[in-house]
Amino acid sequence: MHIALYDEEKNTGAHMLKQDQFVTPLLAWYDKNKREMVWRDRGNAYYTWISEIMLQQTRIEAAKDYFVRFTEEIPDIQSLANVPQERLLKLWEGLGYYNRAKNLQKTAKILVEEYGAELPSDYEKLLALPGIGPYTAGAIASIAYDIKVPAVDGNVLRVMMRYQASLEDITKISVRRRVEGELTEVMPERPGDFNQAIMELGALICLPNHPPLCTQCPLRQECKAYAHGIQNELPIKAGKKERRIEAYTVLVCVCDRKMALMQRPAKGLLANLYGFAMQEGKLTS
Ligand code: ADE
Repeated sequence: MHIALYDEEKNTGAHMLKQDQFVTPLLAWYDKNKREMVWRDRGNAYYTWISEIMLQQTRIEAAKDYFVRFTEEIPDIQSLANVPQERLLKLWEGLGYYNRAKNLQKTAKILVEEYGAELPSDYEKLLALPGIGPYTAGAIASIAYDIKVPAVDGNVLRVMMRYQASLEDITKISVRRRVEGELTEVMPERPGDFNQAIMELGALICLPNHPPLCTQCPLRQECKAYAHGIQNELPIKAGKKERRIEAYTVLVCVCDRKMALMQRPAKGLLANLYGFAMQEGKLTS
């Protein structure tokens, strides 16, 4: 059996994205199926920014309450620049990856100094800000400012690798670049909706870690992985780093119904945060 898969080396088998087969059915599906999100369709670049940073390592359901509490207390860029860091970290508590919160404030200070407390409506300027990479810059530019740039994250790569039956390794920058180029070529007049439609398809239909729900997919007629029955095998992540596991012993000191907490060192795991004393390694008593 000959299967025309996308092969990076030979550059064969790719099927270019087409308006009528990809963009139109995807947008129609999104209009009917998109989830309500407190930050969505609000025309507020600050909300887009905060939500996208929260969603980098947090599920949408879990992020919603955090987003509401965060934006009630810190409603705009000026107040984010001014809030004491301890308060900011308290509002972030439980979301993890605390550098995200610190970078938000660093960027807010730059925005106050250099951009009149607004997020710039320019992809390159967004990309130059702390904590904002190509995905987030693309998401803010397209969703908040209707700029025709893609926003390619892991969800989008999974959808695209399956749609094209691509055997490429999605941890390679070259693969992300190729996908960004192809999406840019077919970018419609609704860039924010288009980008979010692909992410939403990845979250609701073209699932990670589960068999995708192909019978409900608006793209199944042209999906090459579905045609060949290899959707569960894709995407391929060859270069994925093994997760590092570190052993610590947590020391819980209790005295007169009080517990001892200590501020952690300025560098490394949970930098500057308060917690129980910890000792590297697994100690036995
Ligand atoms: N995941 C991250 N950002 C998203 C967005 N704007 N829409 C849907 N899923 C997302």
